[in-house]
Amino acid sequence: MNRKDFIANVGFGAVALLAAQCGIGCNKQNTTAVDFTLDVSTGALSQSGGYLINNGVIVAKTLTGDFIAVTAACSHEGTSVRYSSSGNNFVCPSHGATFNSSGSVTKGPANTSLTQYKTALSGNTLRVYA
Ligand code: FES
Repeated sequence: MNRKDFIANVGFGAVALLAAQCGIGCNKQNTTAVDFTLDVSTGALSQSGGYLINNGVIVAKTLTGDFIAVTAACSHEGTSVRYSSSGNNFVCPSHGATFNSSGSVTKGPANTSLTQYKTALSGNTLRVYA
């Protein structure tokens, strides 16, 4: 194998490897699927109005006993939001943005909704997923 053939073969191999790793054309977004479970028999989610953050998702138990979940990072500058049971909404402590229980902006400066996740309760196990 001469130098030209070697470079051509190695170059093709590198391109093929990169294409295999990111998908042809690298058009896929780098998203991490949310799908986890929590034990709600103890801790914050055992009480109405309680909440916790897990895997970048804030999960809350409303005063009526429903479970809701949205992305924890505020869409303004990324501060973790908090759940307010009295307003049944999410509040950002940094600059005061608020989001309803579905993650939609109700007060700026944030202007993008938080991603809402599905919840499913089976016994004391709560599944949170996209
Ligand atoms: S980081 Fe949430 S309002 Fe600014």
